[in-house]
Amino acid sequence: MKIAVINGPNLNLLGKREAHIYGSKSMSDLEGELKNLAEANQCQLLFFQSNHEGELVDFIQKLLADETCQAIIINPAAFTHTSIALRDALIACEKPFIEVHLSNVHSREEFRKKSYLSDRAVGVITGLGSMGYLAALRYFLAKGVES
Ligand code: DQA
Repeated sequence: MKIAVINGPNLNLLGKREAHIYGSKSMSDLEGELKNLAEANQCQLLFFQSNHEGELVDFIQKLLADETCQAIIINPAAFTHTSIALRDALIACEKPFIEVHLSNVHSREEFRKKSYLSDRAVGVITGLGSMGYLAALRYFLAKGVES
């Protein structure tokens, strides 16, 4: 199994950015935890982070042609609340995806409650910190990706 893990803008600053909201782990700490779980389950992960909407769209479009990649775990960060382009790319890509947020977006500002992706996601995990990514990976490992 191969799964793409995609992170949107400012998530490269994890550990330094608003640690009281997003936690003290860096992106490479998080990737390391995911890699350990994936390797123990014969799963390969493809990591991608970008601060640019178009680069995220380009990456998702490339996944469309990659038949070896079966699913996506995505934290679209601020683009969750704004990006119809990201929504359209994920729909075009036709791979099951789980939307993850480190913080609980429903307990924050009103504008964070709106997601352009949630209704097309297999599921949404919000507020569990880095454990949310691990839970998403565990789900795909346990359930397979035919859904
Ligand atoms: C976030 C929540 C978003 O509202 C915010 O813009 C982010 C991170 C999260 O992981 O909690 O950058 O997706």
